[in-house]
Amino acid sequence: MKATIYNGAEQNDAVCEKSKNIMSEELKAAGWDVEELVLRDMKIAPCVGCFGCWFKTPGECVINDQGRETSAKSIQSDLTIYLTPVKFGAPSRYLKAALDRSVPNAMPFFVKEGNEIHHERRYDRYPQLAGLGIVADNDVESERLFRQLFDRNMKNFRPEKVGFDVASVSAGDDELRTRIRQVLKDGGVNISGITDGKNWKNGEKPHVLMLSGTPKAKDSVSEVLGNYLLKKMETDGCTTATLRMRSAIKNDASLQEMFEAVEKADVVVYSGPLYVDSFPSHVIEAMEKITEHFAGRKFDGKKTRFFAISNCGFPEAFQNQASLDIMRYFALKCGFEWADGFAVGAGPALFQGLEKMGGMTSGIRKALDMAAKALANADPIPEEASAMISKDLMPAWVYLKMATMSMKDEAKKNKVTDQLYNKPYAVK
Ligand SMILES: Cc1cc2nc3c(=O)[nH]c(=O)nc-3n(C[C@H](O)[C@H](O)[C@H](O)COP(=O)(O)O)c2cc1C
Repeated sequence: MKATIYNGAEQNDAVCEKSKNIMSEELKAAGWDVEELVLRDMKIAPCVGCFGCWFKTPGECVINDQGRETSAKSIQSDLTIYLTPVKFGAPSRYLKAALDRSVPNAMPFFVKEGNEIHHERRYDRYPQLAGLGIVADNDVESERLFRQLFDRNMKNFRPEKVGFDVASVSAGDDELRTRIRQVLKDGGVNISGITDGKNWKNGEKPHVLMLSGTPKAKDSVSEVLGNYLLKKMETDGCTTATLRMRSAIKNDASLQEMFEAVEKADVVVYSGPLYVDSFPSHVIEAMEKITEHFAGRKFDGKKTRFFAISNCGFPEAFQNQASLDIMRYFALKCGFEWADGFAVGAGPALFQGLEKMGGMTSGIRKALDMAAKALANADPIPEEASAMISKDLMPAWVYLKMATMSMKDEAKKNKVTDQLYNKPYAVK
């Protein structure tokens, strides 16, 4: 497999140089051939906008310089990586020149895909893509704009797999490596889940801590999912413990207990509900406390893996995405190794327990079985597991019908059926 790094850095850009070296190392460790294109040292004239690449010399730019090479290499690679300092939210002029000169790789004709118009593809196969932007410290606006731009680019390029992230110029080595590993993984590189090799526990099984994010004392779906995972890990020889974040933040003693439990764990599993598109407020408080306590710590050299499950009341699992992305960032800030995040939709349908629901939850159980085995054996969590757990539990209309019926039953039980549409705060 061949990866080409499009290095859009200026001369003497230490962070880009470091990032490029980490990318190379990680790709080579995963068995890839790596080529770096140092774009600033190449002769790539800016596109002149003549459309000669479509109508005079179809598929090739009329300018005969190394812009043809950068265009060809992106088609001939399995993975193309864009590495660039971010300029006002845009890539560097070196990378942008190469991107503009890649227009011959598309056909001039338009095609509608999804809700948008794009260009027809010229080739049968395009590379997977990965991007890393480096922004100045605290330049939130540049980061936001760059993310928006990359997203737009990807909608037009339409690669099968995309990895992307932004790091700040002052990111430490560990943070850069963690971000790069994730970007490469999302871009389709088989990056192992553990930095220091598979046998980090020397064959011993890990100790697992579940941090439960629900405020509920009983009938929690988060705990149904988390407990199932923990039970599976126990049968695999792991030891486990559970803490409710709501109780852990109560006082100094309970906080201390949580810190010690986290310190002792080899694997931390967060399982919690989606509240207004992220987490309950007490989870944020617990995250803050954990970050203050552990930021930058190396846990005596051991890498603690962090795995998250977010479940929500809407039927679509993807509604958990922002919550899982935030959890991943939190894990990174604490120095944990991000193992993966599972998104589960139609959560309330699961409160009775997974086994009780028979065949309907077989996909969820299979995905959790796979995650348990991978976590117990210090292996990467198979990608198919996270896809499997996010599949619709049942057709959305069935879930909505069931949910509406049970909501109405609940109201009836409480004798408020006729008050359901009350407007207590309406302005009179
Ligand atoms: C205050 C509140 C906010 C919620 N916000 C969302 C939401 O934004 N999206 C969603 O799909 N479900 C939302 N839910 C539903 C829960 O995520 C869902 O019921 C979940 O299964 C609860 O898990 P638990 O039993 O472990 O607490 C919300 C529930 C509550 C109480």
